[in-house]
Amino acid sequence: PMPFTIAIDGPAAAGKGTISKAVAAHYGFAHLDTGLLYRAVGAKMLAGVEPIAAAQALLPEDLADASLRTPEVAQAASKVATIPEVRAALVDFQRAFARRQGGAVLDGRDIGTVICPDAEAKLFVTASAEVRAQRRHAEQQGAQSYDEVLADVIARDERDMNRAEAPLKPAADAVLIDTSGLSIEQAVAAAIAAVDARK
Ligand code: C5P
Repeated sequence: PMPFTIAIDGPAAAGKGTISKAVAAHYGFAHLDTGLLYRAVGAKMLAGVEPIAAAQALLPEDLADASLRTPEVAQAASKVATIPEVRAALVDFQRAFARRQGGAVLDGRDIGTVICPDAEAKLFVTASAEVRAQRRHAEQQGAQSYDEVLADVIARDERDMNRAEAPLKPAADAVLIDTSGLSIEQAVAAAIAAVDARK
């Protein structure tokens, strides 16, 4: 089978992860959550490692670390993600993954714009900040208050959209999916319909 790249971008907690896993399973493609790369570098920075050196030395096994999902690591990830040398160190790994035989789904912030501008299908998955904070709050089971989660989501959106290097924005040819009023099943169906239209 030929390489076929599906790029799925969007802000924090919009449903990218859930949609990406379901889309990858539907087509039998491999899936890479590129946020994990920045989270792994963020976690190393919190542990005292210089972020550029951490990004250059990143190993696939670093992505399996179960402690990458905390709010502290999420904020650290969005900070290291503003450093051009950190982003540059992660490009080759992502592009190689995208062009593997048998197809790939990559989700992140800059997949359709910077990492894979020639992706066969591009989706931009969004939802209102309030809906995203509600979902993340429910997922976390009380680790933070709703207001804290909302403040974190807004701070990360601001940093991700306003950085100079590879800011979060839809590619010109991305299909927009707003999941605010959609169930998971409806959002996944919309994503698959958009990809089928490019096949
Ligand atoms: O998607 P996730 O919430 O795990 O991403 C964590 C952070 O990593 C984001 O807030 C963003 O700053 C950064 N990121 C990025 N580019 C990507 C994926 C994630 O800058 N492709």
